[in-house]
Amino acid sequence: MEKKVTNIGVLTSGGDSPGMNAAVRAVVRTGLFHGLRVYGIMRGYAGMIDDDIKEMDGRSVANIIQRGGTILKTARSKDFMEFEGRQKAFANLQKRNIDGLVIIGGDGSFRGAQTFSNEFDIPCIGLPGTIDKDISGSDTTIGFDTAVNTAVQAIDKIRDTMDAHDRLFIVEVMGRDAGYIALHSGIATGAENILIPETKTDMAGMIESLTEKEKRKKLVNLIVVAEGDEFGGAAEVAKYVKEKLPTADVRVCVLGHIQRGGSPTCEDRLVASHMGYYAVESLIMGRKNMMVGVINNKIHYTPLDKAVKEKQKIGQEWMKIVKILAS
Ligand code: F6P
Repeated sequence: MEKKVTNIGVLTSGGDSPGMNAAVRAVVRTGLFHGLRVYGIMRGYAGMIDDDIKEMDGRSVANIIQRGGTILKTARSKDFMEFEGRQKAFANLQKRNIDGLVIIGGDGSFRGAQTFSNEFDIPCIGLPGTIDKDISGSDTTIGFDTAVNTAVQAIDKIRDTMDAHDRLFIVEVMGRDAGYIALHSGIATGAENILIPETKTDMAGMIESLTEKEKRKKLVNLIVVAEGDEFGGAAEVAKYVKEKLPTADVRVCVLGHIQRGGSPTCEDRLVASHMGYYAVESLIMGRKNMMVGVINNKIHYTPLDKAVKEKQKIGQEWMKIVKILAS
């Protein structure tokens, strides 16, 4: 028979994402509802190793659902990659009889959870908290909707000035390995070209179509590029475009970390609350090493190792639609 969890720990790890606080709130309050003790682990796995762990009560998560960032803070811990670090971390959990963990983070955090759980037999439940949406087993991730809306608002502003000056703008959005922010924000702002790591970037084809547009006096053109595109980021794309199209008035904008901050959208608060609630329910039901995702508005469980191994597929159809709509 599965051992029943009594004391659980929650942590946020890796790059922060808007909605992490809403998820922490849901985990703490669901845990308390079931009579569990809930501990907040500061700075992700780093705080687990340094024994920076505090017991949470219902009030400790008051007034945070609307706040970006994470009250638990976050980090990427090198020490947790070593067995000695994980051993220290486990000893600190044992001191408090913590027998279940909720990890809110991205692929690196899930890999750490999987290893930790295999070594010390502690059930871990992952919640996908990343703006990049580069995890499979869920239609969305906590923070993606906010990040993409931040990008859309920024690009709309850029559009006003690029239109006034008849300029070609290259906007770089986040996404080290994934093009979701670029794809969604690019479509929503009417970008002429969207460059993402998941598809082969055809620079020659792009120049050809921009030349044709220039001939018919369409001078306002928007290129949205994901930072992880195989050709390079906005600077590399701008250099190439200027070389091939010397008459174009080219400007560059890198949106950067503003995409990671800000108050979470309603969608991210809902997703985080839904997933946070089910993270605790699943620990109580005896689930281990699973990621809680949402597919077609229903909770869906994926083994942690599968969630990080497989990336979400970008629908090729969208790239065709982009070309037609931006003609
Ligand atoms: O949160 C994911 C991400 O936004 C990536 O797209 C980006 O490359 C990375 O974080 C940058 O994070 P940091 O500046 O914290 O290293």
